[in-house]
Amino acid sequence: MRLFSALLAALLALPCLASSSAPSSGDRAAENIIAQKALLDLQFMYEGRGMVAPPNLPPYRLDSAFGRRTVRALKGLLQDDFGLIVENDAVIGYHDEEYKDHHVGVVGCAVCHAGRAAGVFVPGLGNKTIDIFSLAQAAKKSNPATVYWPDKVNRELHENAMHFINEIGNEKLATKTRGLIPIGLIRKWFFDTAGEKMDSDIPGSVKVPALWGYGEKRKIGSFGDGFGRGVLPGWAIAVELVGGQKEANVHAFLPKIEAAEDALAHLLPPKYPFAIDPVKAGRGEKLFVRNCAGCHGTYEVDSRGFPVFKEPLFIPHAVVGTDQARLDGVTPRFRELVRANPLNDLIQATDLGRGYLAQRLNGIWARFPYFHNGSVPTLYAVLKPSERPAKFSLRNAGELERFDQQKVGLNVDPKSEKSGRSVYDTSMFEHSNRGHDFASMQALTESERFDLIEYLKTL
Ligand code: HEC
Ligand code: HEC
Repeated sequence: MRLFSALLAALLALPCLASSSAPSSGDRAAENIIAQKALLDLQFMYEGRGMVAPPNLPPYRLDSAFGRRTVRALKGLLQDDFGLIVENDAVIGYHDEEYKDHHVGVVGCAVCHAGRAAGVFVPGLGNKTIDIFSLAQAAKKSNPATVYWPDKVNRELHENAMHFINEIGNEKLATKTRGLIPIGLIRKWFFDTAGEKMDSDIPGSVKVPALWGYGEKRKIGSFGDGFGRGVLPGWAIAVELVGGQKEANVHAFLPKIEAAEDALAHLLPPKYPFAIDPVKAGRGEKLFVRNCAGCHGTYEVDSRGFPVFKEPLFIPHAVVGTDQARLDGVTPRFRELVRANPLNDLIQATDLGRGYLAQRLNGIWARFPYFHNGSVPTLYAVLKPSERPAKFSLRNAGELERFDQQKVGLNVDPKSEKSGRSVYDTSMFEHSNRGHDFASMQALTESERFDLIEYLKTL
């Protein structure tokens, strides 16, 4: 296993090799498996910096065999309180790396970019339950600033880790709900780097997007609003800068970033795991072409039945009308700081304007809760705005028992808790479920809605 990881790391470090030695190009199922493995292994710790965990955080103060037992013992806590994903007694996206002969716990991309839906584990799907704020609070508690590390390297690692922990534990920019990540932390890096105070404390709470199709999507723009100039490789490691990676170091691992982005382009969406009625789906496709394709495009498969990825369209906010808080966080000063940032050969903005991308809908069945802020639990509720629930629970959101096969998405469990970080409350700031409320959609009959949903399962 370690040898395999090492091989993949070597592959990732060589961009030309990574693309040219891919299995006989065209074998997309095999390419997908390689891309999924690469994503699960992906982390950017460099010179003891980046998203590093404190030295005493299990399982990394112990040898790996013991570590697995620790994970097994702590599974409930790791999944329930922090929303981490545990598969085969390992925390997905949490790595055991070496730095100056020390074990370092390193947070990798898959902590957020691998998820579960209807009980199926899907690398490349956003993690629906992750709670980085709770993680930071717990890590702070077990690592008081006064902790004494006799070893110089441990001390250095501890310092780097506490920087990362303090950033993601920032109370002002914390999200109110698990499953959401505050992109304000990334805006903060630009202000910090310029030595300025932030001019907006909007957290910018967004769900983690699915990564399949990113190879085409990045040509228009990265993120839900297309703000990032995705053809440049820098935005993908913005979290490493938040973690405390030095900007001067980024060019050293640039080939690895570029290779990773190329690899991600081979990810495929997961197939709907239950039966699909082809007659209903056929009727739904016609409705889709009439009502939705103008914004979300049309969907074709290649000769082997794999999806053809395309670029999404940008839609002004005045048209779609979903929650606007994340757009309000993008102030004129922030734009200026992005333009002038010290890594501006790698990190730049687009000028699409104020709005959201009409996401391509590949694998949409698995991407609930819907919209950039995850405010709508099912496809049915997307299509019927008058029946969008005011509150729903995100606890165990990726498990089979939370999957609603009829409405497709998260079931609304009336017995579940009423408040706390697992409850999505649409009356809260940044959590609005309004918008995407087009007249054509309201005119659909109930059976047309279910035909459309049947078609969406096929994408
Ligand atoms: C703490 C959770 C988290 C971690 C860790 C993380 N990401 Fe992300 N990522 C996000 C969120 C949230 C977004 C969406 C941001 C937005 O919409 O503004 C995102 C967006 C992206 C996008 C753009 C996707 C799109 O549809 O435009 C890419 C590419 C990406 N991440 C790559 C990475 C890579 C590579 C890593 C590892 C270095 C990584 N991410 C680590 C949460 C995370
Ligand atoms: C006028 C353009 C437009 C039309 C028409 C439209 N959409 Fe959308 N749709 C968008 C935009 C923009 C978003 C992103 C909104 C956001 O994230 O805040 C979106 C988001 C979605 C999402 C959530 C995607 C995700 O990743 O969470 C789904 C599902 C969806 N639309 C389905 C449909 C269906 C089905 C139809 C036809 C009945 C439709 N849309 C019609 C523009 C449109």
